Amino acid sequence: MPSTNRDQLVALDRQHLIHPVTNFRAHEKRGVTVLDSGKGAFLRDIDGNELLDAFSGLWCVNTGYGQESIVRAATEQMARLPYATGYFSYGSEPAIRLAAQLVELAPKSLRHVYFTQGGSDAVDAAIRYVVYYYNALGKPQKKHFISLQRGYHGSSAAGAGLTGLPVFHRNFDLPTLQQHHIPSPYPYRNPVGQDDAAIIAASVQALRDKVAELGAENVAAFFCEPIQGSGGVIVPPVGWLKAIADTCRELGILLAVDEVITGFGRTGPLFACEAEGVEPDLMTMAKGLTAGYAPMGAVMMSSAIYDAISEAAGPDIAVGHGQTYSAHPVAAAIGLEVLRLYHEGGLLANGIAVTPRFTAGLQELLAHPLVGDARNRGLVGALELVADKKSKRQFDPALRVNEAVAEAAYRNRLVFRAFNDSILGFAPALCYTEEEFDLLFMRLKRTLDEVLELPAVRAAMR
Ligand SMILES: Cc1ncc(COP(=O)(O)O)c(C=O)c1O
Repeated sequence: MPSTNRDQLVALDRQHLIHPVTNFRAHEKRGVTVLDSGKGAFLRDIDGNELLDAFSGLWCVNTGYGQESIVRAATEQMARLPYATGYFSYGSEPAIRLAAQLVELAPKSLRHVYFTQGGSDAVDAAIRYVVYYYNALGKPQKKHFISLQRGYHGSSAAGAGLTGLPVFHRNFDLPTLQQHHIPSPYPYRNPVGQDDAAIIAASVQALRDKVAELGAENVAAFFCEPIQGSGGVIVPPVGWLKAIADTCRELGILLAVDEVITGFGRTGPLFACEAEGVEPDLMTMAKGLTAGYAPMGAVMMSSAIYDAISEAAGPDIAVGHGQTYSAHPVAAAIGLEVLRLYHEGGLLANGIAVTPRFTAGLQELLAHPLVGDARNRGLVGALELVADKKSKRQFDPALRVNEAVAEAAYRNRLVFRAFNDSILGFAPALCYTEEEFDLLFMRLKRTLDEVLELPAVRAAMR
């Protein structure tokens, strides 16, 4: 029998708990790392190790851990009314107020909110509403969806097909025949080079070509993230989102912007769309909406979509999309308090104030022999490790450099995301101080130095 509580948890986890986007056998072999508590930017594991979290959980705990006012808001709501259905025209005050605040704060094209439990079901809801919308308009052939290679739009049965990452398709029979991907506007690795205008022009052309190939009369919508998070923190040039939005409008297809990561101060403003004056037809969000303190997501839509759906349903027929926990009052109460912290609590302002320190720390590491590219917008960023800087040659995946980095980082008490292709993703909380950034970059530099000393890594760089 396992002796300690930790050993018992590892054994039970191995036997019973399926982890998201994980190789089951590799996870069983490695065993779970149990996290126990958190305060501010720091986590503590079950062995008492204090870890600096440079990824805000999974780019969601934008407020940092242990925010007492959020705990109070949740506790009070739980005591008063832990659940209120949104069905049969019932509702609750926090959900109604949160919807109204989001409409006030989001791009002004977005007037209506449907709440979900996270990002995947927000994307799923968006897809379903778009399908309904075109049927309502009497354009039932407009059913094709376009998104970006390396884009991530969650893992619902439909949304995972819009996701442009092979592991979400493999053995899941995706993408469907109605789901298409165009190349990512990836500045570091782009056939047109690194010139911003050329990258934007090529991306717009790729969208035009795909729509022409399918026929605009058959295309429903283009889905994209303002910054491609799970695909490796790909930061398109400033102006890309606006150019894409203008193209969608011109081509008569809907634009659905997926701000699940970029929303709620991650890139500076509350939403990334704001920075480019983009007014999408739909927007999905989650993560920072409740800062991870409870599950909640949302899809927002324009009045044109809402009204067309309303009219097609007529006076009697329900629009058949719903979930028991849509507009959950405890999650909504948390969302309201989190929004207050972003604004009155000064978190958005702090995020903007410390961004230059984050940018400088990443850029300084460009001098490191392993680092081929450093990029960020606001408090989301990445380092791309390469075996050869000049040719941008990647490490052989068989070397599992990402695993070596994650292990070294953990030994150095630092948590971030090491993607498969040796891209290291960072998303520090908006509450980070300058001193916490000093610590982050000190530990990160040490981690990279240790990985550089590994004989297999040295050999691959020759
Ligand atoms: C852009 C984007 N869309 C959708 C999702 C899916 O959200 P969730 O994991 O809450 O289902 C994610 C999650 O990382 C995301 O980054």
